[in-house]
Amino acid sequence: MTWTLIESASEHDATLELYGKDGKFMIRANGLELMNGFHHESETALGAFAAGLAPSDGARFLVGGLGLGYTVAALVAALEGRGTVTVAELSSAVIAWFERHLKASVLSRPPANFAIVNADIAALLAGPGRYDVIILDVDNGPEPIVAAANAGLYGRAGLGALHGCLSDRGIALLWSGFESADFATRAKEAGFAVTCEPFRRERADLHHYIYVLTKDDARRSGARDTNN
Ligand SMILES: C[S@@+](CC[C@H](N)C(=O)[O-])C[C@H]1O[C@@H](n2cnc3c(N)ncnc32)[C@H](O)[C@@H]1O
Repeated sequence: MTWTLIESASEHDATLELYGKDGKFMIRANGLELMNGFHHESETALGAFAAGLAPSDGARFLVGGLGLGYTVAALVAALEGRGTVTVAELSSAVIAWFERHLKASVLSRPPANFAIVNADIAALLAGPGRYDVIILDVDNGPEPIVAAANAGLYGRAGLGALHGCLSDRGIALLWSGFESADFATRAKEAGFAVTCEPFRRERADLHHYIYVLTKDDARRSGARDTNN
C-alpha cells in the first residue's frame, strides 16, 4: 500500500503534507520526509532520554517541534506528572493534524503540566535561565528544511540564545540525521560542552544522532566528547 495524501498546508515558507498508510502517518516538508510514524524509535528514545536529565521534580522542558508527537509523548510518559513541558510548534496545521489524527493514540490524556503553543521556538529562546532541558527537533538536523529562518537556530546567534535561556546546569538536545562538524564547533564556541551520541539504527540506511549540548562540564557522564 502506498502513502495517501490526507491534508496539506502552506505556512511560513513551507509546504507541509500529511500522509497516511496502514494507520500510520508521515509528514513531508517541501517534498522531503520530515517524520515517519513507521520509524519513530529514535524520537521516542529522545523524549525518554530528556526526562532522565531533569535536575529536579520542577524541571522546565521546552520541546520544538511537535511533529507526530512521539518525542513529547515519551517525555510526558517518563516524567509521570513531574515538571512542566512546553511544546513550540511553528505550524498551526501540524497542531490541528495532531489533534485530529494522532492525539488519541499517541497522547490521549496529556497531563496538566503540558502545553502546546503555536510558535517559532526561536521566539521562546529568550530570557535568562528559563528552561532546564530543551529538545530541538524541528528539521532533520542542524540545517533548515522546514523554514529558512531555522538556519538562525544553528548559527552563532541562535546557539547563544539557546545557551542564555538554559539554567546554569541546563542541557539542550538536538536530533539529527547526520553529523555536522561545523555545528559542533559553533556550539562549543557558544559555551557548550558537546557530545554526539549515535542511536541504534532502525534501518540500515538510516543514521540517527543526538547532539547533547551541556552548559556545565561536570554533568558530562562519560559521554564521548566529539571532535566534530
Ligand atoms: C521532525 S518533526 C518533529 C518530530 C517529532 N520529534 C516527533 O516525535 O514526531 C519537526 C517539527 O518541527 C516543526 N518546526 C519546524 N520549524 C520550527 C520552529 N522554528 N519552531 C517550532 N516548530 C518548528 C515542524 O513543523 C514539524 O512539526
